[in-house]
Amino acid sequence: MGQPAQVPSRTPQLEPNSKNRTRLWLLIPLLCFISLSTLRLGLVGPLTQRSQPASTEPAFPDLPRHCTAIPPISSSVLEARRNTLAKRLHQLGAAAYIAEPSSSAAYYFNVSEAHWRLSERPLLFVVTPSVDGVSDEGDVTANVSLLTPKFEATRAKLLPLSPSAYIQWAEEEDPFAVLFDALHLPSNSTVYIDGNARFFVADGLQRALPRGQVQNAPPQVVEIRERKTPEEISILRCANEATLLAIRATHKRMHIGMHESDARELVAGALAAVGLERAGCLTLFGENAALPHGSGTNRVLKKEDFALFDCTGQLHGYWSDVTRTLALPESSIPDDHLAIWHHVHAAQSLARLATYPGALTNHPDIVARARLALDGYGPFFTHRLGHGIGLDVHESPYLRGVPVSQATLIQTGHTFSNEPGVYIEGKVGVRLEDCMVVEEGASYATFLTAGVGGAALSPWEP
Ligand SMILES: *[C@@H]1O[C@H](CO)[C@@H](O)[C@H](O)[C@H]1NC(C)=O
Ligand SMILES: *[C@@H]1O[C@H](CO)[C@@H](O)[C@H](O)[C@H]1NC(C)=O
Ligand SMILES: *[C@@H]1O[C@H](CO)[C@@H](O)[C@H](O)[C@H]1NC(C)=O
Repeated sequence: MGQPAQVPSRTPQLEPNSKNRTRLWLLIPLLCFISLSTLRLGLVGPLTQRSQPASTEPAFPDLPRHCTAIPPISSSVLEARRNTLAKRLHQLGAAAYIAEPSSSAAYYFNVSEAHWRLSERPLLFVVTPSVDGVSDEGDVTANVSLLTPKFEATRAKLLPLSPSAYIQWAEEEDPFAVLFDALHLPSNSTVYIDGNARFFVADGLQRALPRGQVQNAPPQVVEIRERKTPEEISILRCANEATLLAIRATHKRMHIGMHESDARELVAGALAAVGLERAGCLTLFGENAALPHGSGTNRVLKKEDFALFDCTGQLHGYWSDVTRTLALPESSIPDDHLAIWHHVHAAQSLARLATYPGALTNHPDIVARARLALDGYGPFFTHRLGHGIGLDVHESPYLRGVPVSQATLIQTGHTFSNEPGVYIEGKVGVRLEDCMVVEEGASYATFLTAGVGGAALSPWEP
């Protein structure tokens, strides 16, 4: 589902500049000297004793890094994506595509907000289609330009992309006017802007191109990122497998009487051990799990309680999202709660079979909801079935029970979460979530966790 409350902040840090780096290097010998001297003087005896077991004995010896064999996206794939975009722009008669640092910029240019923090000074990535030859039949490739604040041009040039032009705007200039001057677009051009771009950017661009049209990128453009390639699918698959392995390893180390915060710390260690980045989980016990995004209390696990883990983590920029509602060997779960678990499990299985190329995006949601309604739990499944997942934890397309006129088609390459849940406030919450992929030639979606066994078998076998 994704966790507003407990996931570490996604606010990126600025890269240290080279001056800071030099200072750090100067500090290292000094720090070594200080720590050696304090050790010799016995000043930090108890402290080193406490920290030693942590460094020599990993907390999860049974949990090796899971994805070392999975390569990141290569520069040739990034280039192919930009050329696909350029062809699409050309077909649609658009003169340019513009994005701020974002997941879309990560997709096309390998630059996310983690590389360049958004500020009031726009930094924009621009793709214009460049048509080879005079006729429209020629090959269309992407011409990349980067609009950067002039005083930050040196830092912009350190970003991992090589545009054909760095367009610089000085503090006293209108950045958007500078951009269009440099691009020499016809004044009546249509320009697409990435859906994540901020309003003042879209507005500024439109004002600087008064006879043209600045529009949200249409579905034909958004669709490029929605449909994942085999490289992306293998990254997503491994990230989701690793997340599930971390939850299972955590499960084995839990005990009745622990706090939600203990479980959260434990699972964070497991997610780090399997090699995921920016990872975190919602950990909710008993009736706290009835609030899909948590309650903020730090409840103790009792014998009658389910424990819910909803975890995300990143591999090469791509996200996992896995939820397990589980019980310990010594738990004694009330029968009606166990029944709910099995209904949710059945809804999740059916929803996977209802996810196939050519189905509408509302179909799996309707099927899962109908399954839960059979047992009277319809009103307690209070959120959509799932969301697209990739460089964003939640991205289009979404699996929602919208009217047919608002639904879109499920296509090969789509990756979704499949996460039915039943939430009875003050009593119990059960959610089961595995992400799934719709692959070429398959009759219906497969779970991205299938390589490590896929969906849970029971509350005791997550
Ligand atoms: C993308 O950026 C990352 C740093 O975030 C870097 O490690 C990787 O090599 C870059 N990939 C390409 C293809 O440039
Ligand atoms: C690419 O765009 C820049 C403007 O940003 C322009 O100067 C250059 O001529 C373009 N190159 C091609 C091959 O169209
Ligand atoms: C834009 O203006 C040019 C002339 O400068 C004209 O040929 C073209 O048809 C116009 N395009 C649109 C979409 O109005």
